[in-house]
Amino acid sequence: MNKIIFALAALLFSATTMAQQSNEPSILPKPSKVTMGLQECFFVLNPQTKIINKLEDKDAKVVTKEINSLAQELLGRNLKTASSIKEDNNIIIKKNGSLATEGYILEITPENIIIQAKSTAGAFYALQTLKQIVPIQAYETPLDLETVKLPTMKVEDAPHFAYRGFMLDCSRHFWDVETVKEVIDIMALHKMNRFHWHLTEDQGWRIEIKKYPLLTEKGSLREQTTTGHNEGFDGIPYGGYYTQKDIKEIVKYAEERFITIIPEIEIPGHSLGALCAYPWLGCRGEEGNYKTWSLWGVSPQIVCAGKESSFKFWEDVLGEVIKLFPGEYIHIGGDEAPRDEWKVCPLCQKRIQENGLKNEAELQSYVTHRIEEYLNKHGRKLIGWDEILEGGVSQSATIMSWRGASGGIKAAQKGNYAIMTPNDFCYLDYFQTKDRKDEPDAIGGYVPLSKTYSLNPYDKLTAEQQKYIMGVQGNLWCEYIPTPMQLQYMALPRLGAIAEVGWSNPAPESKDVNKFIERAKHLSRYYAVFGWNFAKHFYDGVEQ
Ligand code: ACM
Ligand code: ZN
Repeated sequence: MNKIIFALAALLFSATTMAQQSNEPSILPKPSKVTMGLQECFFVLNPQTKIINKLEDKDAKVVTKEINSLAQELLGRNLKTASSIKEDNNIIIKKNGSLATEGYILEITPENIIIQAKSTAGAFYALQTLKQIVPIQAYETPLDLETVKLPTMKVEDAPHFAYRGFMLDCSRHFWDVETVKEVIDIMALHKMNRFHWHLTEDQGWRIEIKKYPLLTEKGSLREQTTTGHNEGFDGIPYGGYYTQKDIKEIVKYAEERFITIIPEIEIPGHSLGALCAYPWLGCRGEEGNYKTWSLWGVSPQIVCAGKESSFKFWEDVLGEVIKLFPGEYIHIGGDEAPRDEWKVCPLCQKRIQENGLKNEAELQSYVTHRIEEYLNKHGRKLIGWDEILEGGVSQSATIMSWRGASGGIKAAQKGNYAIMTPNDFCYLDYFQTKDRKDEPDAIGGYVPLSKTYSLNPYDKLTAEQQKYIMGVQGNLWCEYIPTPMQLQYMALPRLGAIAEVGWSNPAPESKDVNKFIERAKHLSRYYAVFGWNFAKHFYDGVEQ
């Protein structure tokens, strides 16, 4: 008898589980835990739904604003707010100090939606989840609906990594304020929280520095741009830069979406924009005949590390950058620095001798140390590309690993913090399909969605070393990306994979590429209603 009852109970349980599973919404990045309510139970969002925001942090109003932007989209109006519960039909947001910093609990009951979070960021992420629980039809035909039915459930969620980033190159092609804001919106939906803004380059300096006006007056302009893969020139002058006012506007916009901006000022290479504006920065001075570059690739010119005036320049620039960007990290580039000019520059060689340095790699390291001291003195921390490891690096520098994962592994082994952006997984400027047939031209490489998703940031690291991996980042270099539409096409859907590697459990055994791809496909319908372009290449490279 007992056996029969057990068998019946097991059957009932599995039937319920199956019903629940089929009902479970597709949420990307995958949440830690979702428990579905009964299938026939819904919360009905309607114009009478009230917001009861009990968060007390100074940024708490951002949450009300975010709910209202969703209400505008779905119901064509803002919701009323209330300070206490009088009757059902509320979205209640309250603090729960026992949750993880960016974690949240989202409960959708027939009576109310209840969000608990430790920080306002957590509540904001609960709303990003809610946006994906809203059935796609509610966005596709919004104003036909007076109400939106939301399935009942409980989502308990928190990110794995504290750093979930995206880098945008604004130098090879310049992106206006609206385009950058849209990138920030895309990141926010994916619960990403670090925007690495690549602002200076051989091909153009893009940030206004009041003390050095020629950086933008001259250094932001190039005479023309190469066509194809350095095959010809288009003969069209090109330029653009962000005023400090633009930057403040974008920093605030990002802050309201819990995204910290990490500005990147390239030191000492990738600097033709600066050299064109102020030739005295170069080893060859006026004789250098520096011109903002019209080719792709890395120019052989470099800022002189022998002159004190170069350090004064870098510190002045960083002084203004620090005032514009409140985040704790400043990225100083350091990648691909062509050190040949240093080999023949008397001042650089004198610096090497006087400081007992072995070679030019150590001279770069000398530069990095001095810049780091300056940043630390001003309460900031330094991030550099993995090349800064080459001549020796201080214990406090953070390494961004791009030439594969080896730089990040080396950093973690020696106890430096690292961010994983290995090019073979995270370079979103690479082709998305093997045959490249229906893709626009790209820089090269091959990184399908499944490859990005397969990144294990902890690969080859012991449990102790894993503690030094701060997180992951997708990088979008923009040599071959001339329009905002193409920018989004290259970023999506692969940014979803970066987001999921950063947010969800990265252990290979907890991942399932086919299920991830289903989530990515589902989310792409939301991209479409939000007006974002995306590549349709979901399955390339995946064993079916
Ligand atoms: C890089 O791709 N040069 C960091
Ligand atoms: Zn020099």
